Amino acid sequence: MCGIVGYIGREEAVGLLLEGLKRLEYRGYDSSGVAVLEEGKLRVVKARGKLERLREKLAQTKLTGTTGIGHTRWATHGEPSDENSHPHLSQSGEIAVVHNGIIENYAALRDKLIARGYRFQSETDTEVFAHLLEETLKTEHDLLGAVRATVRQLEGAYALGVLCTRFPDRILAARKDSPLIIGLGEGCNYIASDIPAVLPYTRRVYLLKEGEMAQVFADRVEIYDMEGEKVDKEVFTVNWSVDAAEKGGYAHFMLKEIHEQGRAMRDTLRPRIREGEIDLSEAKLTDELLRGVARVVITACGTACYAGQVGRALIERLCRVPVEIDVASEFRYRDPILQPTDLFLVVSQSGETADTLAALRLAKARGCKVVAITNVVGSTIAREADSVLYTWAGPEIAVASTKAYTTQVLMLTLIALKMAKCKGTIARERYEALLAELQRLPEKAEEILSDVENVQRCAARFFSQEDMFFIGRGLDYALSLEASLKLKEISYIHSEAMAAGELKHGTIALIEPGRLVVALCTQGATLEKLRSNIREVLTRGAVVLTIGYADSEAEKELTPYRLAIPRTDDLLAPALAVIPAQLFAYYCAIQRGYDPDKPRNLAKSVTVE
Ligand code: G6P
Repeated sequence: MCGIVGYIGREEAVGLLLEGLKRLEYRGYDSSGVAVLEEGKLRVVKARGKLERLREKLAQTKLTGTTGIGHTRWATHGEPSDENSHPHLSQSGEIAVVHNGIIENYAALRDKLIARGYRFQSETDTEVFAHLLEETLKTEHDLLGAVRATVRQLEGAYALGVLCTRFPDRILAARKDSPLIIGLGEGCNYIASDIPAVLPYTRRVYLLKEGEMAQVFADRVEIYDMEGEKVDKEVFTVNWSVDAAEKGGYAHFMLKEIHEQGRAMRDTLRPRIREGEIDLSEAKLTDELLRGVARVVITACGTACYAGQVGRALIERLCRVPVEIDVASEFRYRDPILQPTDLFLVVSQSGETADTLAALRLAKARGCKVVAITNVVGSTIAREADSVLYTWAGPEIAVASTKAYTTQVLMLTLIALKMAKCKGTIARERYEALLAELQRLPEKAEEILSDVENVQRCAARFFSQEDMFFIGRGLDYALSLEASLKLKEISYIHSEAMAAGELKHGTIALIEPGRLVVALCTQGATLEKLRSNIREVLTRGAVVLTIGYADSEAEKELTPYRLAIPRTDDLLAPALAVIPAQLFAYYCAIQRGYDPDKPRNLAKSVTVE
C-alpha cells in the first residue's frame, strides 16, 4: 500500500511533503520520492529505503517550489530501487505521477507505448500512466479531460496525483479502488492517501469517492465524476486523533487488516483470472510444467505453514499428486528426500523468515524448482526463488497474520485448480464452478465482516477460559490449526487444534465441564462424523461453539453458540471460515485487556533461527 501526498500553496513544498510522508509511514514502504515544480520545470528526487535516505538526498539537492507531490512505495511491479520509486516522469519530463494501486493491463499498454517510441526508465506499472497521459495531451488540451481519457484506458486500481508543467497552477487527483483524500487549507490545499498525512494542517477534508477526480488549486478545489460532471461535495470534518486516523478509524491494525480481507482477496485473484482461465505465467508455471509435476513439497513457518496445510489438502484432492508439508525449521535439518521433479513451494508473508529461506536454499541446491508465495516484493525469498507469486494483501502491520493467510490460501487454491486442469484431474464444469465461486469469496468475506456483533457476544461469553480446543476434519482440521494459533498469539489463552476423530485417543481426557470446544463444521462429507465428535465432548460437559454455514441446520440442535459464514463450496470454505476465528481471537484479546497488535514475545518477521 503506497502513500501519496501533495501540496499546492505559498510555502516551500518539500518540508511539508516529507512531513506528510512521515505520517504515512505506518502504511509500510520500501522507498520514497518527491517531485516539485521549480520555475516551470519538474524536479524529482527519490531514494530506496527509509524516508531518512530521501531526507538526506534532499538536504544535498535543494528543491524549491510551492507545488509538489510525494510518495512512499510498497513495491508491486519491480523491486524496490531508486528507479522504480515514484514520482515517475513522462518522456518529455512535463508530467510527474504518483500512484497507489495496481494497473492490471499495464503490460499491454506498455507494449503499445514502446511501439510509439516511448522509452521506459522503470519496471513499474505507474510509468505507463505518465507516458499515456503525455500521449493523450497531444490531442486533448485540457489536463482534466486528458486524465479522464487516460484513466479510462486503465484496468485495475488507482489513486493518482499528477503534476504537469503546462498547468502549473494545479494538482490533478483521481481515484478508483484505492483511497485518496483532499485536505483543505488556508490559501493552500493537499492531497493524501489517508487523513493522518494532513491532520497537523487541517481537519477539513474531501473524501473522494470511486471514479472521482479533482483539480486542486491553491485557492480552490473542483471535483468531478467520471462523466466530467462537477460534483458538489460536503466537507468532512475529522474529529479523530492522528493515532485513530492511522488505523482508518479501527481500534487496532489487526482489526483493520481483518476488515481489508475482501479487498486483499480481490487484488490477489483478479490479475490471475482472465476469461475463465487461471494465468500463473508470472511464475513461469506453464501448462507443460504443471502437467509434469509428480510431487509437491510445501515449506513455511507459522501461519504461512497453516495456509500450506490447506494448500496440501486442495492439491492432493484436486490434482491427485502427493504433497509433503513441513515446518521449515524441521525440514532443513532432516536431510529431506527431494527430487528435481518436485515442485517446491515456500510460503512467507515477509519473505525474510530465516528458516523458510534456509529451506528454500536447500531445495535449490538439490535441483528443485522453487516457487515463492510471498507478500513482499523484492524480499530475499522473492529474489532467491526461481519464480514468485505475490499475494497482494498489502503491508501487514499487526504481528498476528490475517489478510496474508487468506491471500496465501487463495494463491494455493489457484495453483491447485490450475494444476488439476493441466493434469486433467478435474471435470470442465467442476473447474468452472470452483473458479466462479472463488471470485465470489471477496464479497462473501465482506458479508461476514458487515456484522461482527455475534462474534463479540461469543468472545464476551468465553474470553475467561484458560484452555480451548479447536476440532475439525479434513480442510476444517487444516483451518483449526490457524484458528487455534490466532487465539494463542493474541489472547494468551492456551489452545490446541485436534483432528476431530483423534480427540478420543487421549486428549478427550482434558475435557471437563465448562471447557470450550470450537468445532469447525464446513466439510459436508464428514459432517455427520464431526457431529458425533461434538456429542462426545458435550456428554462430558464441554460447551461447543461452531463455525459453519448460516444455512446448515445440522449444528442448530447441538449448541446455541454458532458463528455463521455464507454458503460456499466446501473446498473454498477455509478462506471464509477463518474470518470469524480471527475476529473471535481478536475480541477475546480485547476482553482480556491485551493489545492485539503487539503480542508479547512475538515478532512480525523472524530473521534468526
Ligand atoms: C512469525 C510471525 C508469524 C508468521 C511467521 C512466518 O513467527 O509472528 O505471524 O506466521 O513468522 O512469517 P512469514 O513472514 O514467513 O510468513
